[in-house]
Amino acid sequence: MIHVSMVVTGLGRVGGAFIRLLEEKADFCRLRFGLDLELHAAICRDGGLFSHKRHGLTGLGALSRGEVRTHPAWNAGLTLSEALSILDRGVLVECTPTDLRTGEPGLGYIQAALHAGWHVAAASKGALVLRYRELFDKAAERGVRIKCSGATAAALPTLDTATVALAGAEITAIDGILTGTTNHILGRMEAGMSFDEALREAQDKGIAEPDPALDIDGGDSACKILLIANSACGTELGLGDLPVTGIRGVTKADLDQASSQGKKLKLLGRLIRRDEAYKAEVGVFPVEPSHPLYHVDGTNKGIVFFTDTMGHVAVTGGKSDPRGTAAALLKDIINIYR
Ligand SMILES: NC(=O)c1ccc[n+]([C@@H]2O[C@H](COP(=O)([O-])OP(=O)(O)OC[C@H]3O[C@@H](n4cnc5c(N)ncnc54)[C@H](OP(=O)(O)O)[C@@H]3O)[C@@H](O)[C@H]2O)c1
Repeated sequence: MIHVSMVVTGLGRVGGAFIRLLEEKADFCRLRFGLDLELHAAICRDGGLFSHKRHGLTGLGALSRGEVRTHPAWNAGLTLSEALSILDRGVLVECTPTDLRTGEPGLGYIQAALHAGWHVAAASKGALVLRYRELFDKAAERGVRIKCSGATAAALPTLDTATVALAGAEITAIDGILTGTTNHILGRMEAGMSFDEALREAQDKGIAEPDPALDIDGGDSACKILLIANSACGTELGLGDLPVTGIRGVTKADLDQASSQGKKLKLLGRLIRRDEAYKAEVGVFPVEPSHPLYHVDGTNKGIVFFTDTMGHVAVTGGKSDPRGTAAALLKDIINIYR
């Protein structure tokens, strides 16, 4: 049995779902993978829950946000570095908000974990998008892994497909529907809604964030295609390297025109290799019925890899919610120890 210490940063929707999933899957992970996954700390902005005891923190799954700071294991002012300095090495599970200007607070947390010789499984995107090379070089230097399925379309296995299933093949192009929210909105517009109506409906149903700009304007898809390209194709793309257009400007007339040609409009993260160089972009493209992503509708996501030796390989589906993201984090942790 391998004992794995874990610390979660960010106790929001994803962090909370991860803790609940851990409790649900603890026995399964022991029996199937020989992994004893022990949560020892959950770090918030002003302190954290901490237990150094064998088995760590248990019974947190039912804890509401309001109960965190009155829990017996709460340590006001506890920092991640303090927790890491006491615990055996394991995995940082990074679930703080994504900030694409500074990468914080995830950047500082990931740097602290790597410095202390901990692996990282990240759901947040900011630090990895802004400091990809530096963080992965640091991980290699420290002999640890950074996994980011949670940041690259979560339950849809984009990185695992590209880096494991397609190993040895050269990826010549990628098309991805990487954001479920925008795919859903385009579908509702196809059915006759205006952009504003479709967005409002998505917000009412909890599909779109109260501040939907990152999804709607293509930034979320840009982060994902960038991380997939850098991980799978050895590029060193930054956000400034790819043109990004979202779905805000799409009109009913655009959708009707595509439809009259038998096509659908999809927001795609796209990577193409030309003359030995890769170019990435995010935009709205007409997709033909023969394209593997044509039938990916609603909040579903999908990705297709075009390769030199394996033809094209498409993966579709995968839950888009916090539980699906938590499952992607758990998968990354299991695979770190395989
Ligand atoms: N939601 C999804 O389905 C999904 C899917 C894929 C990826 N992601 C990514 O996963 C991350 C978390 O998403 P989420 O939906 O769980 O967001 P969320 O509900 O807003 O949770 C983020 C949590 O981080 C806490 N936090 C803020 N600053 C912190 C700090 N300095 N130290 C420790 N904790 C801090 C927040 O606390 P306060 O409430 O006190 O600010 C909040 O509890 C994001 O980066 C997001 O892009 C989310």
